[in-house]
Amino acid sequence: MSILGISAGFHDAGAAIVDHRGEILFAAHSERYSKHKHDENYCLGLLEDIRQHGADIDLVAYYERPFVKQLRSVYAGQGFNWHQFTAGQAVRRQLGRNYHNVPIRSFNHHLSHAAGGFQTSPFEKATVVVIDAIGEFDTVTIWGAEYDNRGHARYKKLWGQRYPHSVGLFYSAATKHVGLKPLDEEYILMGMAAYGSSRETAKRMRLDLIDSEWEVKFRDNLHLGMVTKYLSDFPDFDIAAGAQELAEDLILNIMIRARNFKWSSNLVYTGGVALNCSANRRIGGYFDNIWIMPNPGDAGSSLGAAALAHGGRLNWRNAFLGHDIAGPYPVNAILDELVTRRIVGVASGRAEFGPRALGNRSLLADPRGPEIKDQVNEIKRRQKFRPFAPVILEELVDHYFDMPSGWSDSRYMQVVAPCRHPDLFPAIVHHDGTSRVQTVPKDGSGIRQLLEKWYVMTGCPMLLNTSLNIRGEPMVNDRSDADRFEMLYGVKVCS
Ligand SMILES: [Fe+2]
Repeated sequence: MSILGISAGFHDAGAAIVDHRGEILFAAHSERYSKHKHDENYCLGLLEDIRQHGADIDLVAYYERPFVKQLRSVYAGQGFNWHQFTAGQAVRRQLGRNYHNVPIRSFNHHLSHAAGGFQTSPFEKATVVVIDAIGEFDTVTIWGAEYDNRGHARYKKLWGQRYPHSVGLFYSAATKHVGLKPLDEEYILMGMAAYGSSRETAKRMRLDLIDSEWEVKFRDNLHLGMVTKYLSDFPDFDIAAGAQELAEDLILNIMIRARNFKWSSNLVYTGGVALNCSANRRIGGYFDNIWIMPNPGDAGSSLGAAALAHGGRLNWRNAFLGHDIAGPYPVNAILDELVTRRIVGVASGRAEFGPRALGNRSLLADPRGPEIKDQVNEIKRRQKFRPFAPVILEELVDHYFDMPSGWSDSRYMQVVAPCRHPDLFPAIVHHDGTSRVQTVPKDGSGIRQLLEKWYVMTGCPMLLNTSLNIRGEPMVNDRSDADRFEMLYGVKVCS
């Protein structure tokens, strides 16, 4: 008996399978199979892996309530889609005739986010904060979550803000305003912010766009973007810096409000905005412990919906939940390439669930010295201002990075921290002196074994880690993708 959680139909379709004991059998993104970035729909490859891992699926859990979402669509002047009216229609659209006799349950969008966070967290009780662009109507919600004496998760909604007042929509509007793709390239806007000055732009945005910072209320509906030529006398980098500063201040206000409920000093933070790792460094002061599930956006809500249908705690081990490239982690082959060529790909084990490559679908490089950043950028063919991330032995992180308050580790690359030795590792340090750190505990994982051996060989406890993907495509998923990568870029990918 197991549950298939589905998030699909808007962007970033995801699937998650959970069994009756709370084991997460499988969780993956459709885009990795179809090769369409942010693919909103299921595809044959994903369905095949679902079949392999979920032979006994007896319930389908859908991540939002389509009817309520359609009401919002009408309210927003975007019309009504009769083909997405019920969860049954939405699920059949993704699964076709597969599992056609299996019952379907649907859950509130923000509650699915909350459950994906809380029920994978180590906490018995937590304050849950959900911030995204938009759910059905919700844009920000704060929940009190705990397990009852039968081990069932219970959620009490403590506060909420609704469409069109939305931190996520504001940030996406700013993304679009500087010529980037909304719902895709928000992370680039975040990277640009380090190069700009927020002094004037943040002030102007506060005056022009915000009605109440404490209530997270905007003057206008930013769903369709900002007015043309808004702040056109400022460079895009300054607009990025202003948007980042204002978003961070709004997020902090939400965190202060959440803490003031005094429900729990454990924070579960989720929703797409929780991917903003620059803002995340500022949230640590308000709670004792923080958990951000590594896939806090809508794709991760496939797991959240399955968690709600299951009812209890899920057995979270790590983010390696997707397609499997079987075989032992190729530690020695990777080391050989690192020593001789300094750059190597790895495609081994189960793919990461979430947007970050954490070692199983990664392009790795020796982070030391000035020239490696350009070499990796040449392969990735991306904007030169964008930094790469370090992956480091967790017990040594404090020697190299000043981890922000509340963050003793960062196992899923969720926070930035100032680097203590930027001159030694320029490839992994951003313009503002910070790095998006991934710490690896003593968990016996492949990437852990690799780092340990690399440290013994070189005295350097970290590697540069970026996602293994062909430009314009999602991350490599199977071995044939890895072969294509090798052919295109002349970089060996070890399996
Ligand atoms: Fe969402």
